[in-house]
Amino acid sequence: MNTPRHAIRSYVLRTGRITRAQTRALEELLPRFGIPYSESLLDLDAVFGRRAPRVLEIGFGNGDTLIELASKTPATNFIGVEVHPPGIGHCLLAVESLGLSNVRVIAHDAVEVLAQQIPPASLDEVLIYFPDPWPKKRHHKRRIVQPEFATLVASRLKPGGRFKLATDWEPYAAWMLEVLGASREFTNAAPGGGCVDRPAREMTRFESRGRRLGHAVFDLEYIRR
Ligand SMILES: C[S@@+](CC[C@H](N)C(=O)[O-])C[C@H]1O[C@@H](n2cnc3c(N)ncnc32)[C@H](O)[C@@H]1O
Repeated sequence: MNTPRHAIRSYVLRTGRITRAQTRALEELLPRFGIPYSESLLDLDAVFGRRAPRVLEIGFGNGDTLIELASKTPATNFIGVEVHPPGIGHCLLAVESLGLSNVRVIAHDAVEVLAQQIPPASLDEVLIYFPDPWPKKRHHKRRIVQPEFATLVASRLKPGGRFKLATDWEPYAAWMLEVLGASREFTNAAPGGGCVDRPAREMTRFESRGRRLGHAVFDLEYIRR
């Protein structure tokens, strides 16, 4: 697919602290459990060595959700996409220690991964939990949820596939509802057209932080038409 490289990124790579174990994980485990980024479409059955439902999580952070889901649902294949090296290392250590064979990690910008590597209509679910809210107005263009992004996600989902999101930033929840509500490719799974009840998902690091700060949490779910 000939998608132009997007110029505005939804993240800024921080040179945060990385532990020795995380560095080892990036060196030794990424070659085992990672999928290198490239500009050609993946054969996802070949990647996992089996045909199974596929869930892709964007910006998995430390991997809290990814690891929990992959442990609970071994019959599903999970692809996690993240750019923050310490978080990727943390997640890989869990994949190794739990012996999970149904997780693969791509250490690259999820927008490019979706556009270049993930085949059309190949995913059962796309998850994006607590994406960076970019609260300042001049930074809103950095929010990952944008109309073109919604179209891209929709194109990678199978018909009937689910796009699940959560945020603890109310204005971002309103933004998501507006962008996804305007999309022709999605139907809101909430009967009233707003947020859904919190599904039984793992409490992530960023969700805990938001709750400590007294933020409400908003879950959204859309169905690919
Ligand atoms: C606020 S954190 C939330 C992490 C995790 N989902 C959680 O709830 O703990 C947002 C994460 O998204 C990642 N991220 C942002 N834009 C991304 C992109 N375009 N591709 C991949 N990861 C991205 C960041 O590196 C960061 O780890």
